Amino acid sequence: MNIIITKDNQELSEKACGIIEKQVNDKPDSVLGLATGGSPLGTYKQLINGCQERSVNYENVSTLNLDEYIGLDKNDPQSYHFFMKKHLFDHINIRPENTYIPNGKAVNLGDECERYEQLIDDIGPPDLQLLGIGQNGHIGFNEPGTSFQSETHIIELEESTRRANARFFDSLDKVPKQAITMGIQSILKSEKIVIIASGERKADAIRSLLEDEPDENMPASALRAHKHVTLIVDEAAYQKAGH
Ligand code: PGA
Repeated sequence: MNIIITKDNQELSEKACGIIEKQVNDKPDSVLGLATGGSPLGTYKQLINGCQERSVNYENVSTLNLDEYIGLDKNDPQSYHFFMKKHLFDHINIRPENTYIPNGKAVNLGDECERYEQLIDDIGPPDLQLLGIGQNGHIGFNEPGTSFQSETHIIELEESTRRANARFFDSLDKVPKQAITMGIQSILKSEKIVIIASGERKADAIRSLLEDEPDENMPASALRAHKHVTLIVDEAAYQKAGH
């Protein structure tokens, strides 16, 4: 694993942006795997600047997002569809029809999981997948205990995940209890993976990722079997990990 340590979240976001922009500049029809949550927000701001001020071109780029809450409509401000439009897609020259996110309102959710996994194979797999990491070590919404062989599936969110994400909702009981997520096997199909972690509250997960044996109770540890992973971590998330 290639490790980049940055002084803060700003520098972390610039590094992640630099890697993504290089990917897009080198291969204009790249497929990018994208994440939601607090972690990628700074990176997305940098990407928007890059498109608007440095003419980075997304016209032929496609994107596959990791996950979506079950039960939220695409237009719900808490949905990941809405998040991606608000924080990235509406501000860069990507074609909306080239952006893919699981449908959390599908009538048949089992079929939706199969459709999405097929999409990953047909459109992707991503040339570059951007990941955050949960405090419990989840990647996408693959909670501890998820099989390393898993493909796109429905997951029951852990209480700790719902609490961590409650900051984006009016109250904890508004946070959905289930999501559709790419599986760990689906994520590992990507050519390259960039995982970002910022702040003290991620330190235990980062320490475990770097030091413990791969274990399904620590979903991110599956990344240790992948040949091209870059971890970008700020000092707060790294130093407290005891390095
Ligand atoms: P965060 O979540 O980016 O909001 O901290 C990361 C994750 O849960 O994967």
